[in-house]
Amino acid sequence: MQNKNLVVVGGSHGIGLGIVQQAMARGAEVTVVSRSSGQLAATAGIRHIIADVTDDEVDASALPESIDGFAYCPGSINLGPLRSVEAGRIRQDFELNVVGAVKWFQAVAPALRRSDGASAVFFSTVAVAQGMPMHTSVAAAKGAIEGLTRTWAAELSPQVRVNCVAPALTATPLSERFLETEEKRAAMASKYPLRRVGEIDDIAGTALFLLSEQSSWMTGQVLAVDGGMSSVRK
Ligand SMILES: NC(=O)c1ccc[n+]([C@@H]2O[C@H](COP(=O)([O-])OP(=O)(O)OC[C@H]3O[C@@H](n4cnc5c(N)ncnc54)[C@H](OP(=O)(O)O)[C@@H]3O)[C@@H](O)[C@H]2O)c1
Repeated sequence: MQNKNLVVVGGSHGIGLGIVQQAMARGAEVTVVSRSSGQLAATAGIRHIIADVTDDEVDASALPESIDGFAYCPGSINLGPLRSVEAGRIRQDFELNVVGAVKWFQAVAPALRRSDGASAVFFSTVAVAQGMPMHTSVAAAKGAIEGLTRTWAAELSPQVRVNCVAPALTATPLSERFLETEEKRAAMASKYPLRRVGEIDDIAGTALFLLSEQSSWMTGQVLAVDGGMSSVRK
């Protein structure tokens, strides 16, 4: 990744920040797009663009002319039974997870095409491959992302590879409420064949693999990084 230009939308904390840190350690030039600087202050040498992905306009003027890697990380975990799902909530989740991804990918696609071997990564969830109660809004939004991953992989090949990571519960600011006590963490961990929840580096490492040349013959894939939850029964 030495001297490669990487753009991470949602790189100010959580999995996105993990991608930023791993990419910088490998010599990448990183641009982060997010609403706040979050935990970026501790990471020197990053270009930060303040933007809200739910805004209608995308200003790509400050992005590099040629982009080698792109990750779109904003997402939500809004759970609730079918009977109480509100249309407004589904629309909000769709704006953040899907419409934002479409707008930002449109904005960076010309710069990705200028790179020799560009790669883009999006995020789904285990709750698409594995049906789970209470996940109507999440499954709707992330199911769309999995479809878009394959669509964009087809449309932009061979210049740009497009893949997706589907994590299960991972310790980040987004999932804090599910893991805030030792009891909750242990209860969650016990649901996984590998008997723990995910850590940021588990997911960021897979995203980095997909962004790197090590995965240069992969496109249109959804990689489950979920402690075995989607495919293994104990
Ligand atoms: N954590 C999990 O358990 C889990 C499980 C399955 C799937 N995922 C998926 O993995 C991805 C990363 O999750 P995460 O846990 O790392 O999330 P996170 O901790 O909430 O981090 C999200 C990042 O996106 C940015 N962001 C959020 N809303 C934004 C907006 N409107 N405009 C611009 N930036 C925005 C945040 O920065 P600012 O707040 O500074 O804007 C932050 O940098 C998401 O797509 C999520 O759905 C996570």
